[in-house]
Amino acid sequence: MKRQTGPNRNQSPAEEPFSYRASPGGRRVLCCGSFPLSELAKKFGTPLYVYSAAALRERSWVLDSAFAGVPHTLCYSVKANPNLSILRLIYGLKCGFDIVSGGELERVLRVSRRAAARVVFSGVGKTAAEMDAALRAGILMFNVESESELALLAERAARLKRRARVALRVNPHVAANTHPYISTGLRRHKFGVPMTEARRLYRWAAAQPFLLPAGVSVHIGSQITEVAPFSAALRRVIALVRELREEGLRLTYVDCGGGLGINYGGQRLPPFPRYAERYAQGLVRALGPTPVHLLLEPGRVLLGPAGALLTRVLYRKTNGPKRFVVTDAAMNDLLRPSLYGAHHRIVPVEGGGRSLETVDVVGPICETGDFFARDRRLPQVKEGELLAIMDAGAYGMSLASNYNSRLRAAEVMVDGARAKLIRRRETMRDLLRQEI
Ligand code: LLP
Repeated sequence: MKRQTGPNRNQSPAEEPFSYRASPGGRRVLCCGSFPLSELAKKFGTPLYVYSAAALRERSWVLDSAFAGVPHTLCYSVKANPNLSILRLIYGLKCGFDIVSGGELERVLRVSRRAAARVVFSGVGKTAAEMDAALRAGILMFNVESESELALLAERAARLKRRARVALRVNPHVAANTHPYISTGLRRHKFGVPMTEARRLYRWAAAQPFLLPAGVSVHIGSQITEVAPFSAALRRVIALVRELREEGLRLTYVDCGGGLGINYGGQRLPPFPRYAERYAQGLVRALGPTPVHLLLEPGRVLLGPAGALLTRVLYRKTNGPKRFVVTDAAMNDLLRPSLYGAHHRIVPVEGGGRSLETVDVVGPICETGDFFARDRRLPQVKEGELLAIMDAGAYGMSLASNYNSRLRAAEVMVDGARAKLIRRRETMRDLLRQEI
């Protein structure tokens, strides 16, 4: 699909990948770059995920620049959005990848076999088969999360005669002010090994012929918008790195994980460059004079604001005093509101002054939990109109399912003068393919 109108050069795509513009008919229409979302909906149907390549590039560049003063690699967290076209774009920006499964490894290898050299493998339940695949691919680092996993990795690496670079993911017992389901840095969480056990495990690992202790990793949670918990965790990790280096271990890497949050609406965050700078400063200060290569595993902060979910209003209905707007997208397309009570801004694609009303925006699925907004003040919309659910680029499509036998949405990437289909809409055939 070709560009309709010229780009607005005064605007930073990182801040506003989606903005209203005057359409030829004089109406104001929400656009991604120069593409009116109404045209994308007409061409590709709804529900539709739309991503801005410009915003993704710029956000990655801004974050990368914020760390310019220290050796570092951004390892994009594939789980946030694993679409191959997105991975390809990110690989082109010289980023690495944070993976948590053999499936994610396979995706990265499809982008380039050479990308393996920039892959870190996290997760509490790696299987022997996943370890073997990662060892064969020659990934940068295994972020190991338990003693048993370390023992299995030693065995697999010895069997394949491949050296595994290892970082223990430590649990720093640092609280992050975020939703309990995505908080990971406390003792009561399943993640990481206790700091107190790390030394013993590193010593053991160093004695294994096919393990090479090369770093320490930490990840305290997701959608964290304050810097303090990140620095607190990193200070603990750095203290450990110093101790281990004194014992003679040559640890090059410190993996700070991901977790930097975005503004879903309501939060007061500075513009992205200043926000990224503040985050980087917090981490670099916590590093102190210790020379290390920093690894970062950002997901949401790169992709979240760069994507929106486009949906059509099927019906309006009332139930006593309650007003409902029923959309063709549902919790199977975007689970975050149902699962975390997450807030996503919702805006009509067609702009212009209209009066506000209080509505629930809900999907067609047979669960009361199938909602995108409850008691939300929104501009009055008509049946057949389009809505955009914002900040859905991360953990939108990646959490989508076929619940209620619904076909998963299509995905489109807007890149300059092109709007490219990067995942076609599922068909009934796709849906039934595995069944016997
Ligand atoms: N590294 C590790 C080890 C992780 O577990 C995660 C996210 C990340 C990096 C990336 O975190 P980010 O920079 O994207 O915050 N589904 C939830 C988020 C789950 C995050 C899981 N781990 C949501 O929609 O909010």
